[in-house]
Amino acid sequence: MPKILSLMVLFMTITLTVGVGQKGKANLKKESFGKTADGQEVELYTLTNAKGIETGITTYGGIVVSLKVPDRSGKFDDVVLGFDTLDGYLKGHPYFGAIIGRYGNRIGKARFTLNGKEYKLAANNGENSLHGGTKGFDKALWKARPLTVKDGVALELSYLSKDGEEGYPGNLSVRVVYTLTDNNELKIDYFATTDKDTVVNLTNHSYFNLAGQGNGDILGHQVQINAGSFTPVDAGLIPTGELRSVKGTPFDFTQNTAIGARVNQPDEQLKLGRGYDHNWVLTGNAGTMRQAVKVVEPGTGRVMEVWTTEPGVQFYIGNFLDGSLKGKGGKVYQHRYGFCFETQHFPDSPNQPKFPSTVLKRGSRYRTTTIYKFSADQK
Ligand code: GLA
Repeated sequence: MPKILSLMVLFMTITLTVGVGQKGKANLKKESFGKTADGQEVELYTLTNAKGIETGITTYGGIVVSLKVPDRSGKFDDVVLGFDTLDGYLKGHPYFGAIIGRYGNRIGKARFTLNGKEYKLAANNGENSLHGGTKGFDKALWKARPLTVKDGVALELSYLSKDGEEGYPGNLSVRVVYTLTDNNELKIDYFATTDKDTVVNLTNHSYFNLAGQGNGDILGHQVQINAGSFTPVDAGLIPTGELRSVKGTPFDFTQNTAIGARVNQPDEQLKLGRGYDHNWVLTGNAGTMRQAVKVVEPGTGRVMEVWTTEPGVQFYIGNFLDGSLKGKGGKVYQHRYGFCFETQHFPDSPNQPKFPSTVLKRGSRYRTTTIYKFSADQK
């Protein structure tokens, strides 16, 4: 193909469902996001709901690259950290917006035993395995397919993780459906099946700043977590196995509290996590959809609720961000410029018999849902 033609194809925008800019109707747009190092085409889909909320999702890592939501005066801002170009993501980053798998968070000593057999994983975080290993789902190229839904716009991503990939057993067939509803929710449905018993724990690693990405640290955000206990960790951030009550600790977010209110208190767990980087044990029954978290950014009035069917949530406040990454619009991501609520099963569950099981049996179905719902506090 002549260069000019391929360039045209590259920048060509295909509008599916309805035309771009037809206000009041959800729509989906597809464009090229460039190529991976080995020359594979990467796509960027932009989903817009009836109220004008917009999210960009790329087939590289299933990454949510942007999410534009209104503040109390109706002003839209991008509230997730990330990069303007694919290159930013290819250069390496701390999982901005990505789908995490096969196993969200850490597996101690990078190994586990299942059905009497030991499986060895990549130790990519000290002696432990983090977020699926060296090439987790955050670096996979996903196949995309727009779906027709009643109440918004949806994109299905699928990926086949081969038997033995990153040390995990079984051919795991994964589907993740992102739906941007007209009710201002970003809903993420996760599905998986396997042909051998394995372990699975999928999540999304979006870093939020409800004041707008790059606009300062997140310590003033007010957070409420529906959890009476959390899983304390050791120096490698592996749970000790204990479920500890949050009562009387800086981990008590049962009442709306600013993230920064107690983060500098002398506390062994805060010290080990370098701040909050822990799993909270959510109230209510796993498997049923219930509200896990509410976050309010007092300056803009933006509110985010997290609803999930998962038993836990990793609340991580960007303790490892250090100003070395330049993100969208040239914004520099300093210490604690974003927070994550990674809904999940508890870290290291494959080695913790008392934690809810992450085993997916051959022939059975993995199915979880998480919703990030946006609104503005009018006060
Ligand atoms: C998770 C972990 C953190 C850190 C980030 C990525 O939230 O719990 O310790 O690894 O991912 O930087």
